[in-house]
Amino acid sequence: MGDTTVNMTGGESEDLPTLNLLHVHYDVKEYIGPWYKGACLRHKSNKKILRDITAQFKAGEITALLGNSGSGKTSLLDVLSCRTNGGVSGKVYYNNQEISKKLIRQKAAYVMQADRLLSKLTVREILTYAAYLRLPGNNSKKDIKIKVQKVINDMGLNTVSDSRVGGLIIRGISGGERRRVTIAIQLLQDPKILLLDEPTTGLDCHTARHLISKLVEIAKRGKIVILTIHQPRSDIFRLFDNVGILSLGEMIYFGMSKDLVPYFTTLGYPCPQYANPLDHYVDLASIDRRGYEEQHNTMFRVHKLIDEYLDSPILQDINDKVMFETLKPRYSFSYRRLFVNLYRERQNWVFRILVAAAYVAVMVAFLLRLQDNQTSIQDRIGLYWQSVSVASFGSIIIAVPTFSNLPSIRDVFYREYRDGLYSIVTFIAAYIVHLIPVQIMSTLVLSAVGYW
Ligand SMILES: Nc1ncnc2c1ncn2[C@@H]1O[C@H](COP(=O)(O)OP(=O)(O)O)[C@@H](O)[C@H]1O
Ligand SMILES: [Mg+2]
Repeated sequence: MGDTTVNMTGGESEDLPTLNLLHVHYDVKEYIGPWYKGACLRHKSNKKILRDITAQFKAGEITALLGNSGSGKTSLLDVLSCRTNGGVSGKVYYNNQEISKKLIRQKAAYVMQADRLLSKLTVREILTYAAYLRLPGNNSKKDIKIKVQKVINDMGLNTVSDSRVGGLIIRGISGGERRRVTIAIQLLQDPKILLLDEPTTGLDCHTARHLISKLVEIAKRGKIVILTIHQPRSDIFRLFDNVGILSLGEMIYFGMSKDLVPYFTTLGYPCPQYANPLDHYVDLASIDRRGYEEQHNTMFRVHKLIDEYLDSPILQDINDKVMFETLKPRYSFSYRRLFVNLYRERQNWVFRILVAAAYVAVMVAFLLRLQDNQTSIQDRIGLYWQSVSVASFGSIIIAVPTFSNLPSIRDVFYREYRDGLYSIVTFIAAYIVHLIPVQIMSTLVLSAVGYW
């Protein structure tokens, strides 16, 4: 196993991770009625929180999820971080692997909205204690010091690293700095994916811009950064690589931020000259609940926008990319390749036929000497017993060297299994199926002589 583990952990895909979502739906069960009736007696209804979300998040890019309150931004982050408490359907892949709680715990960090920091400690102390808690025990004191210094540099906290954080009563570092400390704590583990729920809420616009530019720097170092944001200013808009606009749990736009205005302009909603495009289009995607008529009109508009997006070439393009990176290699290509590879391992089946042929030769030699008397009956029974068992013993003789001594199949299997290309069951099924014709042939050869 020693040599194979080295193969398994490396790999190109690891360097530039991609997070793919394909037709993701998220439903929760809601209980309607007074609480004292309990879960069983209350009326249950399904609430659709997210509908048919297809998206791609790449390393090195920062993506902002926008939308009115209640549009499903936080829920989308919950789905990505496996923190949901309801039914999620559809596929979420990290590289080629379907995400699980365990995988996300290794790869992602989630920065919650509130900063909960101990007020009497300095920034460096907070980060050092967090590092002791979060990093594996084999990190030495020196390693921890280096890692803490690195995140302090990354989040631009050098000037305040030895100041007390402070709280409501004692003044300490500023709001923007507190937020950066919260993010720095999450960066200690060097996550591949950074998820942030409303990181700029409560910050003034200059501080918010500074924070986002720090996040852009972090993304540029090969991480996937996804954040939700409530009311971004237009100068922040230019910092994002991608934006997603949600409304009623559905996407009305997901794509590059530079394509946002051209896309809505083709739909007949140009952005007024001095307006902030993000504000303008988030407003367009929101429901006005002040009156019946307004609600009806805005609802109609939002549904039209959702339909337009579902038919748009932008979504088609993302869909193709996601399908290419997730489904295709999993089901058709790698499966077929596995077959071709197994067939090309000729030893596998040529040996089987040779074993059968050799046995036939022995059997013929044996049969020629058989006579028709009492003792020869016993010889015949012995011969038939051998013929039945030779097929299965033959398989064992071949299977042992194939999987234990021939390194190629075994190593390829371990590597591809780790990359999530196929499961153990798939491999064994393919292995068995590709041998069926050979098995039938060798059995036919054997019985062609034995029967007569
Ligand atoms: N666990 C849950 N149970 C019931 N409703 C939920 C749950 N999580 C989210 N919701 C509902 O889903 C909608 C979207 O919520 P959320 O993702 O928090 O919106 P946003 O972050 O965009 O403001 C809201 O209407 C919210 O009430
Ligand atoms: Mg939210």
